[in-house]
Amino acid sequence: AVRKRGQWKSPWGFVLAAIGSAIGLGNIWRFSYLAYDNGGGAFLIPYLVALFTAGIPLLILEFGIGHERIGSAPLALAKVHPRWEWLGWWPVIFVMFGIVLYYSVIIAWCVDYVFYAVRLSWGADPDAFFFHTFLGASGAPSRIGAVQTPVLAALVGVWCLTWAIIVRGVSRGIELANRIFMPLLLVLTLILVGWSLGLEGAREGIRAYLRPDFSRLAEPKVWISAYGQIFFTLSLGFGIMIAYASYLPHKSDITGSAVVTALANSGFSLLAGFGVFSVLGFMAHSQGVGVEQVVTHSIGLAFVAYPKAISLMGPAGKVFGVLFFLSLVVAGLSSSVSIVEAFTAAVVDKFGTDRRTLAGVLCVIGFVGGLIFTTQGGLYWIDIVDHFLNAYGLVVVGLLECVAVGWFFRIETIRRHLNRVSRIPLGPWWNWVIKLVLPGILGVILVQQLVEELSRPYGGYSWASLIAIGWNWVLVTLLASFILAMRPWHQEADLRKGRGD
Ligand code: PHE
Ligand code: NA
Repeated sequence: AVRKRGQWKSPWGFVLAAIGSAIGLGNIWRFSYLAYDNGGGAFLIPYLVALFTAGIPLLILEFGIGHERIGSAPLALAKVHPRWEWLGWWPVIFVMFGIVLYYSVIIAWCVDYVFYAVRLSWGADPDAFFFHTFLGASGAPSRIGAVQTPVLAALVGVWCLTWAIIVRGVSRGIELANRIFMPLLLVLTLILVGWSLGLEGAREGIRAYLRPDFSRLAEPKVWISAYGQIFFTLSLGFGIMIAYASYLPHKSDITGSAVVTALANSGFSLLAGFGVFSVLGFMAHSQGVGVEQVVTHSIGLAFVAYPKAISLMGPAGKVFGVLFFLSLVVAGLSSSVSIVEAFTAAVVDKFGTDRRTLAGVLCVIGFVGGLIFTTQGGLYWIDIVDHFLNAYGLVVVGLLECVAVGWFFRIETIRRHLNRVSRIPLGPWWNWVIKLVLPGILGVILVQQLVEELSRPYGGYSWASLIAIGWNWVLVTLLASFILAMRPWHQEADLRKGRGD
């Protein structure tokens, strides 16, 4: 018997899940810094250009492949042509055996910090608390040292919750979770941003965030950052959006959903940026220094700068801190769940594995595989894997997806299918964006990154560490995807059906 594919209960459930994947830690601690660092308000120009010329067309492509070919990334690409099946495996393998392992560890840190915020446990020196007391950071990826117990404990919780969501399937698990998570995240964010805007010094912070410097638009680096952020922020090139769209019923507004997802994600980033820079402005004001002296991003922002600001807020700071770290947990979980689902969907499609068994096995693997990131060398492992993901993963996969579908398949089949089911019509221009514009842009970015990579070792790590962790990971996952692509499908018949043929 053919098992029925999981299905979203409502179109909104799908859109919320896609937004849940897109909105992640990156929206909160990456976007605003990028804007600040690349021309402030002027950065919105390359950012929006990237959104409309690359983000939305590629999101439509990923939704379109999943919906028209009806499959997770490996199945959908095998239906584009059997030769491309490996390209469907590669991203789902490296996200499952790479990204989600450390992403979950960062969520675990956030869980711990929810509790630390209650008692302001970081004391007078949040910097030393985070790196020394909490992480016991060893200084190099090769000095692994011991597993950090609080991180380990929270990580167990994170994987149990992930399991509870994945095991319940598409509508009762992922859709339901996002129906709770997304409104919750919005409420938390509105409270936090509103609160931050009222802090003294907020105005200085926002000025630093958005003060436009149009001269920066002449720099290629600014444009490359914008395109890079758009791919990352929309969870493109991971096979996630392909799997999510494969769970839609036949008549579904694909193009409309893509536009809504993209705008909601970017809107959220912009909003979160107001909060982040208000807080930084407040900190600068309290310490009597310029905003530029307190600006940091990513891990440093969440685990060092925010704790400092929270301590400066007095008793109410504890509430602020709890809400802030909780919002990171919620934003992170809805993204990590989407990663696990991309891999789950792939294995279920290929081998007909029972979802309940698979969910258990994957969550145990996820936990055990993540242990390395909970050690004293873990921070550096995270940094290296994250670098390889951002610099190459998304870009290479996105590029190859466009080439595979644009040049080795009748992309017109997908466009016509989308126009039959969607509300917003897609002109023939889209075919050319997929065939030429995107490969061109992504190609330039890739070459630029490679040149930079080879010119000096990333982050000052030794070449040996970069090869052993980063390059090794790229090659092993690539090899695994070729091997999996050679295995037979449990149901060959699946390979023939598309919706638009
Ligand atoms: N889109 C997420 C963000 O902006 C990152 C992410 C990518 C999460 C892929 C999950 C999967 O943070
Ligand atoms: Na995002």
